Amino acid sequence: MAFTSTDPKRYTITAALPYTNGPVHIGHLAGVYIPADIYARFQRLQNRDVVFVCGSDEHGVPITISAKKEGVTPQAIVDKYHTIIKQSFEDFGISFDNYSRTSAKIHHETASEFFKTLNANGDFIEEVTAQLYDPEAQQFLADRFVLGTCPKCGNEGSYGDQCERCGTSHNATDLINPKSTLSGSTPIKKETKHWFLPLDRYEAWLKTWILEEHRQDWKTNVYGQCKSWIDDGLRPRAVTRDLDWGIPVPAPEAQGKVLYVWFDAPIGYISATKEWGEQNGKDWTPYWQDSQTKLVHFIGKDNIVFHCIIFPSMLKAQGEFILPDNVPANEFLNLEGDKISTSRNWAVWLHEYLQEFPGQQDVLRYVLTANAPETKDNDFTWSDFQARNNNELVAVFGNFVNRVSVLTQKYYKGIIPSFGTLTPGDQNTLAELRAYPQVIASSIEKYRFREAQTEFMNVARLGNKYLADAEPWKLIKTDPERTQTIMFVALQITAALAVLAEPFMPHTSNKLKTSLNFSVLEMTPTWPEMNSDQFWLPSEHQITATPLLFSRIEDEQMAFQREKLEATKSKNTLTSTPIMAQKETIVYEDFAKMDVRVGTITAAHKMPKANKLLVLKVDTGIDVRTIVSGIAEHFTPEDIIGQKVSVLVNLAERNLRGENSQGMILMAQNDTGGLTFVAPKDPEWPNGAVIS
Ligand code: MF3
Ligand code: ZN
Repeated sequence: MAFTSTDPKRYTITAALPYTNGPVHIGHLAGVYIPADIYARFQRLQNRDVVFVCGSDEHGVPITISAKKEGVTPQAIVDKYHTIIKQSFEDFGISFDNYSRTSAKIHHETASEFFKTLNANGDFIEEVTAQLYDPEAQQFLADRFVLGTCPKCGNEGSYGDQCERCGTSHNATDLINPKSTLSGSTPIKKETKHWFLPLDRYEAWLKTWILEEHRQDWKTNVYGQCKSWIDDGLRPRAVTRDLDWGIPVPAPEAQGKVLYVWFDAPIGYISATKEWGEQNGKDWTPYWQDSQTKLVHFIGKDNIVFHCIIFPSMLKAQGEFILPDNVPANEFLNLEGDKISTSRNWAVWLHEYLQEFPGQQDVLRYVLTANAPETKDNDFTWSDFQARNNNELVAVFGNFVNRVSVLTQKYYKGIIPSFGTLTPGDQNTLAELRAYPQVIASSIEKYRFREAQTEFMNVARLGNKYLADAEPWKLIKTDPERTQTIMFVALQITAALAVLAEPFMPHTSNKLKTSLNFSVLEMTPTWPEMNSDQFWLPSEHQITATPLLFSRIEDEQMAFQREKLEATKSKNTLTSTPIMAQKETIVYEDFAKMDVRVGTITAAHKMPKANKLLVLKVDTGIDVRTIVSGIAEHFTPEDIIGQKVSVLVNLAERNLRGENSQGMILMAQNDTGGLTFVAPKDPEWPNGAVIS
């Protein structure tokens, strides 16, 4: 560990820069942004010097693919999503000190400088090698432009730079059976020059730094992945690409080449800190270069190799920078049993949640923390969301605060009463209460945010139990003096909740602090001081009624969300057809030979002993004829009598199982085996009308 005491001088906290090819969803939040925000808020509450940075990751192949799909420039794509993402983080209450972007000038400069330093130091290997090239698209293929079989785990859908199944990061030329995602064709090899970071040079050092020094304090999932890569042996990795979107390689003979997105993006943490320094008159350098700084990267598991192996090797090569003290990567969150996917729209999108659940940011924060995929993949369901809100936030936390608030207003017009003798029960409760900040802090320091939040809720449970045992609402009639003491104790629990809620549920914490009128207190209660013998809300202090902190979520709201997901699901099944490649070109005369007419099915019966065939009578306007059609698995005869259809009438007669079939019915089909009739939009259209 860089710093010797457990108390570093300052904290540099980073959260993975989201790709700007789509908005942020609950998987991102649960895996990265909420834990990072809890950690940053917690450290600030301890009066620690914190910089918490993030920004948009605007380079890389996925952006150019989205741009192509939407028919706009990559810049238009990143501008659109940067705006949405930045705003939704802000509205949600992720407390970045700076949210920057990698298209910013300061980032281009910082990343270029970084590259130049390494290049000048001889930290790269420059080599002309044969790389995958798509002759049809006339483009080199790397990263998401190429799919193939992962050499490590055999996943057939691995990308050129990383396999999403086993997490391995490789070179595109390592793929078995590569295929271009641009044209579907098999790439050829073509020579091109690139700059490689020789990871093998860092192997020995990585072994000591990770496998020995961080054996104890890194999460097992992170440590395990690192160990397996290091054990497999590390090889040089290209850090440049033949692409026109990204940061130009700052070297001679590098026209048309840009830095690999995973080379420039992590440097984005540094650029974002610099930008923050410029905006706030602060020196950014100690946050990245002083060994007394604790650097923590919050990421998802697919980012582990980049943050634990590649970026640290870059930092080490550069020489002036500190290394991460920890990389608490999370596993993945699924949604209703299925993998979250931006391209399949299988997600709960943050910007939509904020619109559909106004003012309820903290509910989502709470549920996602309670279910955080800290040690294994987890599932988000709307029923769990509703249950946690109604049974925990409303019934435990909200209920306690509400009871205390109502009784304080009713009995004392909002003035904190004075207290008399504390019974052993009171003292026990207060002692328990005073132990919580330490318990919660220790879980947060270990990156166990679920556990920390559970302990937080136990404070509210302590309060409920205290009230239920003491029953002030009964005692007020017989012993108003004792009631004052009880309410005084209950109010201390409320004050503790207001402070302790801040990292987890900042909006709720603020509401509570405001109603408790913290700002006029001589000493605002802060986290560490809650361990003292003092009370946090003094007698005579005036508070106001607390607004309802949480409200029940009804079934209708959940039904709406489920319907939205259902709609996505059925849309995905309909559109998931891998589109059949276009057939060979024909001339007009070929097409004109076909005589297609509007017709009506007038009778139908199943062909005996054939599962698939129906024998139809079709009125073609010219005649009524027999057509044998392979649609029996989709339609019953009753379904289709009277159905308007399109009929190819001049198809040569064919004998099918003893029936003379005199034509063909046109059908549209999808890849899940669905079939539908192709018919004139207006059902009144007469039989015999020509379709051309
Ligand atoms: N954009 C990447 C992702 O979403 C994360 C980049 S993190 C950084 O997986 F370190 F490169 F910034
Ligand atoms: Zn793999």
